[in-house]
Amino acid sequence: MSFVDLHSHYLPGIDDGVRRLEDGVALVRGLKGIGFDTVMATPHIRTAMFPNRKGGVEEAHAAFREAVAGEEGLPELGLGAEHFFDDVFWGLFQAGEAVPYPGGKAALVELPPERLPLRLEHCFFEMRVKGVRPVLAHPERYRPFFKRTDDLDPLLDAGALPLLDLMSLVGRYGRRPRKAAERMLEEGVYYAACSDAHKPEDVELVRDAIAKLRKRVGDEEAEELLGENPRRILAGTAEFE
Ligand SMILES: [Fe+2]
Repeated sequence: MSFVDLHSHYLPGIDDGVRRLEDGVALVRGLKGIGFDTVMATPHIRTAMFPNRKGGVEEAHAAFREAVAGEEGLPELGLGAEHFFDDVFWGLFQAGEAVPYPGGKAALVELPPERLPLRLEHCFFEMRVKGVRPVLAHPERYRPFFKRTDDLDPLLDAGALPLLDLMSLVGRYGRRPRKAAERMLEEGVYYAACSDAHKPEDVELVRDAIAKLRKRVGDEEAEELLGENPRRILAGTAEFE
């Protein structure tokens, strides 16, 4: 078991994730304890809510790493960002001011929950052309996908890699996202799975969710979603059919 978590909020005081350093440390320690050997911090970059920028999140990450240097039992730590998809993000991306995952081969994007942005697939396609695969955070939590997955197809064609939020499976976001996640798992829609953990207490839910995932898709596919495929995303070798 060697899992890679592409989505968590362990950097303190920078978004709606942990507030204190010790909680961030407890969070990554907990994730390591349930099998994640590598954990990415993905602080929100979202206009009017979390006005973070590349320089700020890089500094916060460097400070975190310095604070935990030498501590035992921690996973490998990396940095990305959860970019809210809007014109601001698109401007940042084009200016080279987005925060892709280490290696620069992919970046995490979240969508507005109620409706899909216009021309989204064109932007995703352009990202892919520029060598940065769009990783689509928690598709099961967006209303357009609650009942059916059809509207996801153009995004998949454009190169998007859907990332299951594990806690959707244990009802953290309510019934409709849970149902949508179960359906999308059955449809084989997801490329990878992540914790999206915001606090140490989330670790227990994530552990329960991994057990559910194993039950639903079997050990082999679960481990691919949690380990092999996130590694492919980071290496830039993700292919998705
Ligand atoms: Fe998140």
